Amino acid sequence: MSDLSPADRAKDAAAVAAVALVESGMRLGLGSGSTAAQMVRRLAERVQGGGLQLRCAATSRATAELATQLGLVIEDLDEIGWLDLTLDGADEIDPDLNLIKGGGGALLREKITAAASDRLVVIADPTKVVEQLGAYHLPVEVVPFGLETTRVHIHKLLDQMDLTHRPMLLRNRDGKLFHTDEGNVILDLSLEVICEPERLGAGLTAIPGVVEHGLFLDMCELALIGSPDGSVMELTREVSA
Ligand code: A5P
Repeated sequence: MSDLSPADRAKDAAAVAAVALVESGMRLGLGSGSTAAQMVRRLAERVQGGGLQLRCAATSRATAELATQLGLVIEDLDEIGWLDLTLDGADEIDPDLNLIKGGGGALLREKITAAASDRLVVIADPTKVVEQLGAYHLPVEVVPFGLETTRVHIHKLLDQMDLTHRPMLLRNRDGKLFHTDEGNVILDLSLEVICEPERLGAGLTAIPGVVEHGLFLDMCELALIGSPDGSVMELTREVSA
């Protein structure tokens, strides 16, 4: 572990703490991104150690590939039906454990998976903890058809919320238009600060060309924040039954 960067040591600490929550017999959702990938590696180590029977669903093709390479069996979410726990990363985490996710482009499958889970636990390094959401760009997954009209609708919504003239970039990766696992594209909204996340989320969801947005509100009940020294801070939120 000493050859890891401080950021990677922090991610690993969070990953180890997350995997410690896993019990034999669980149906588990595996998140996406670099922190979740470290969790998958740690989980595979535990499974290889024996005694852990799991059913796992992945939130992206990339995670499914990594997990399979490491010997974990990945099933479709619908084959499993419902999950006990999903472990995933986040781009921002506010004091109410509301999140921005989708920096890696997997927000749609991540949100479907989290919504099909009894518990969503996020794992992150301390840079992800913020007082207010919005400094990180907000990913919005949209269908390619009618992209420009969808963009106009989003601008109108932002105008209504006094978020005028905010940059909205169509995501590229490696010099090419980025497509999600579902074949959609992503608009990254630079909002600086999101004062009304519920209103923004509801407004985005109401736009026909929008498939999903990266605001994960009232979904997460525990955040495990790792530090480079190996310690882990737990941030919790009361969840109504
Ligand atoms: C993937 O689409 C995202 O939601 C990730 O969970 C998020 O971007 C965190 O990724 P890192 O762990 O790589 O920072």
